[in-house]
Amino acid sequence: MPENPTSFASRAGRARGAAFAVEDLHFAYPTGQPVFRSLSLQARAGEFITLVGPSGCGKTTLVNLLSGFLAPGGGRITIDSQPVSPELPALGYVFQSPQLFPWLDVLDNVCFGLRMRRNGDLSACRQKARQFLALVGLEGAAGRHPHQLSGGMQQRVALARALVLEPTLLLMDEPFAALDAITRAGLNDQLLRLAGELGQTVVFITHDVEEAVYLADRVLVLGMAPDGIACELTIDLPRPRSQRATRQHPRYAEACTILMERISAIIASAPGRILGGSGVQAP
Ligand SMILES: Nc1ncnc2c1ncn2[C@@H]1O[C@H](COP(=O)(O)OP(=O)(O)OP(=O)(O)O)[C@@H](O)[C@H]1O
Ligand SMILES: [Mg+2]
Repeated sequence: MPENPTSFASRAGRARGAAFAVEDLHFAYPTGQPVFRSLSLQARAGEFITLVGPSGCGKTTLVNLLSGFLAPGGGRITIDSQPVSPELPALGYVFQSPQLFPWLDVLDNVCFGLRMRRNGDLSACRQKARQFLALVGLEGAAGRHPHQLSGGMQQRVALARALVLEPTLLLMDEPFAALDAITRAGLNDQLLRLAGELGQTVVFITHDVEEAVYLADRVLVLGMAPDGIACELTIDLPRPRSQRATRQHPRYAEACTILMERISAIIASAPGRILGGSGVQAP
């Protein structure tokens, strides 16, 4: 009998998030202008940080640096005081598109990372994968292939695939951007519940200011590259968040307005420096 996924998550408690620190970070792509010049940033364990800013300001680059996929040109990034590297078991990554393996069924997609880590035998991996599929409400879809799922279901599989590795730092790059508003709201709530129960630290990129406020303990606004963080806003809204109560809270609208004004000011001050991209979604 598989373990009850809710008790599994609850037992994990809130103490498992990783703290990270970025100190005096410098980074430029070999072909381009600098993206960061002296960026510093800290996150405490279990903090939910959302990252917003104009297209091309360096959001994806920052999470790629945090994940160790890119190496800093200068400065230091540490996760729980360890220098960052892609092999750190602390890290989980969810991309904008689910990037599932089309030839594997849902269960084996979720199992894949566990098997790569040789984390127990196949049946133990599958049992654990089933628990995490249940956490995202997809236990009934274990035998389906990705093309048999909706976009929202595929993204939930991608979330389960990241969570099953029990990362203490979850990096999410516009994971729900392609989804309709209702599906996105549902996934936002699932993510908040799971990250809260599993105690994870989350860095979540979005162009949607409302989504940024709804999810976050703290919103960071990146200015145009290489300026780094233009401002940050602590989101002092009660948890657990709820679609109705949170969005009706006066501080919610106030935070959305402040962020929209800040981002608009950044864009206005840098005409011609924003090359396409998805822009900023107004509340
Ligand atoms: N592989 C690369 N080689 C060279 N330059 C790059 C590369 N990837 C990104 N850049 C440049 O680095 C800057 C930051 O890009 P990045 O993708 O981090 O922006 P972003 O904030 O994620 O934008 P968006 O909101 O459009 O996703 C941009 O000027 C971009 O053109
Ligand atoms: Mg990006």
